[in-house]
Amino acid sequence: MKWLVVVALVWGCTPPPPIATAADADRAHVPLAELSQGRDLLLQRCGGCHDVPRPGDAARDKWPALMDDMSQRAGLVGPQRHLIEQYVLAMDLAR
Ligand code: HEC
Repeated sequence: MKWLVVVALVWGCTPPPPIATAADADRAHVPLAELSQGRDLLLQRCGGCHDVPRPGDAARDKWPALMDDMSQRAGLVGPQRHLIEQYVLAMDLAR
């Protein structure tokens, strides 16, 4: 995976959001499957208008209001918003 990040940086693209691990799930007290779903949704729904956002792109206390806005723009339904928000907040703890 490391070479991928290097290639992304060299080409000036944003590296993809990190893949959640069991350690992330433990630390955040969230099931790993939910973190993976959140990441998948982020990749599928949030990269249309700008680069796919990364967990550190907004301060922790800014994400909820930002998600109010972006979930409407992305047309999220049901649990999708919650899953994405949960993923970015859980992964942000890792930094
Ligand atoms: C329909 C287009 C569109 C979609 C889809 C979209 N965004 Fe955005 N996003 C924008 C625009 C436009 C801005 C910058 C201007 C603004 O803040 O209003 C932005 C800005 C952002 C920022 C930076 C905010 C800041 O304060 O710097 C983040 C983070 C973000 N979006 C996350 C997301 C996430 C997460 C999703 C998926 C749920 C998403 N966006 C989907 C249009 C979109």
